[in-house]
Amino acid sequence: MLELRQLYHTEGGTCCSHLELRNSGRPGLTLQKSVEVKGLLQSSLQCFRDNGYLQRRTKLSKDWNPRRTTDRKAFHLCIRSKKSSNGASSVGSQDVILGVEGDHYSAGHDIQGSATGGRAKFSVHHVKTVNAKLNRSLEEEAWDLLRASIVKYCGSPVGTIAANDPTDSNALNYDQVFIRDFIPSAVAFLLNGEAEIVRNFLLHTLQLQSWEKTVDCYDPGQGLMPASFKVRVVPCEGSDGSSTEEILEPDFGEAAIGRVAPVDSGLWWIILLRAYGLSTGDFSLQERVDVQTGIRMVLKLCLTDEFDMFPTLLVTDGSCMIDRRMGIHGHPLEIQALFFHALLCGREIMLREDSGSDLIREIDLRLLALSFHIREYYWIDLRKLNEIYRYKTEEYSFDAINKFNIYPDQISPWLVHWMPDQGGYLIGNLQPAHMDFRFFSLGNLWSIVSSLATKEQSDGILDLIEARWCDLIGNMPFKICFPALEGEDWSIITGRDPKNTPWSYHNGGSWPTLLWQFTTACIKMGRPELASKAVEEAGKRLSKDRWPEYYDTRTGRFIGKQARFYQTWSIAGYLVSKMLLENPAGAKMLISEQADVVNFCLLEANPGRKRGRKGKSAPIIV
Ligand code: GLC
Repeated sequence: MLELRQLYHTEGGTCCSHLELRNSGRPGLTLQKSVEVKGLLQSSLQCFRDNGYLQRRTKLSKDWNPRRTTDRKAFHLCIRSKKSSNGASSVGSQDVILGVEGDHYSAGHDIQGSATGGRAKFSVHHVKTVNAKLNRSLEEEAWDLLRASIVKYCGSPVGTIAANDPTDSNALNYDQVFIRDFIPSAVAFLLNGEAEIVRNFLLHTLQLQSWEKTVDCYDPGQGLMPASFKVRVVPCEGSDGSSTEEILEPDFGEAAIGRVAPVDSGLWWIILLRAYGLSTGDFSLQERVDVQTGIRMVLKLCLTDEFDMFPTLLVTDGSCMIDRRMGIHGHPLEIQALFFHALLCGREIMLREDSGSDLIREIDLRLLALSFHIREYYWIDLRKLNEIYRYKTEEYSFDAINKFNIYPDQISPWLVHWMPDQGGYLIGNLQPAHMDFRFFSLGNLWSIVSSLATKEQSDGILDLIEARWCDLIGNMPFKICFPALEGEDWSIITGRDPKNTPWSYHNGGSWPTLLWQFTTACIKMGRPELASKAVEEAGKRLSKDRWPEYYDTRTGRFIGKQARFYQTWSIAGYLVSKMLLENPAGAKMLISEQADVVNFCLLEANPGRKRGRKGKSAPIIV
């Protein structure tokens, strides 16, 4: 099946046209040109007239010379297959009418070409007006790209690769299926009623969980989920190499740059598992014995006793979306928000059986302590900032106000000006004598989605985003963290990382994928108009810029220095945002409501228990 698609979006008076020829759903040649709306008709004709598209690729990539056009034109479209020895052969033909009326561009209708001579079929898709084109074609294009990124294992779809950049000769591990990157793809597929790929992904990654993993001579914990995996073709065992089979090869960080542990993978896996059940109504998957064991293994690994004094999860630098040295070791907010949500989701989908109940009790206590800790100690607004500014230090007592011995001098000058009168946010990290005041978007957004933040705090975070729109959304949503580390801070904290220079990549870069998390948070708080504004901003550039992985500069004006193109989670993030805005109820599978949290968390209980011997009957002082 040959498929010819013409996709459009406009910018100012310029209409950008992509002509794409595909063979059996596989991406083929893409031609991209910007022409005046007026010239569009002529250039389309020119393009169609060159019906030997496949035969003369190189010619077509040369500059077009769109000329002024008449208002309406009918022509006969004919597509030919590859030139055979006895000349080009026609594979389909169709009469097409194109018209330009003012700013509107219209095509006759969707045209299905029928096969001639038993060869391939082709179809041409058009849209009705420039405005309709703007929305529909962008989403259509995104769907095409998303589907083109699907990875198959033994014939079944199991995930999407991180980036599908044809211009990139050094793919590194971007040709793998990343667990965290697949989440927006999975949500897009679920929202579109395509659950198979998500089910396969959940089951195959589960198998990888018990894979033997070693970094030199050390074995990381059993519940660990890989950061990514790829499909590898290997000779069958015992064969002479003539027969091959496919295997899934995971990376638990043993091969990753910096050998970073993917703490977030297992947490996302549980969150997605719950979403799959809610979206499809197929709860049999989560009830399977192996899946239940998988949930327990992830949660047990997180709940293992440590030396730590806090209920937050203690992790190394680079253990989540920011998978490089960025000074986020300790108790980074992103991990805490995902941890909290995974505990909640796990609690909801775990079957209550014998050994389950102890774990449930442990989860409940942790949820209570964790939410108290984050809501109380991570939250800052103008009032709290002023309180910290007046902190006394070196307080030795159980009743200390400045419990973490924070030196007021840590309040950076940027923050004094940046904190709006209304609103606030959860800080990036908290450790003894250290508050990381940077605003980390994913952590804040997921704290809203999961109800780790209270309702007031969640509204406050969105108020802050609105008040600091230029810094956090700017030319491309969404800033990964604000502000960037510069000068000496950049030197010391990143180790002079040339990829994480100020306002680039993880260090203050802008990541389109974060759009879907922002949209989900806005929908939960009943403020979808905020997300719509951001989505509209992103829609102006994403396709034109070839769906980059990230943008650079303080306001996100440039495509990132080393950004990949056709980054799948940028594409899926945009799609999910659009779909959720059209159908906000779809967000339910991702959200945990405040009321649910309150129900079991016994929020009226004071988590500052009296010190005493630990025992089952130890009272919680109310
Ligand atoms: C980069 C990002 C990471 C992402 C990966 C694949 O390493 O930092 O979050 O998962 O690329 O896209």
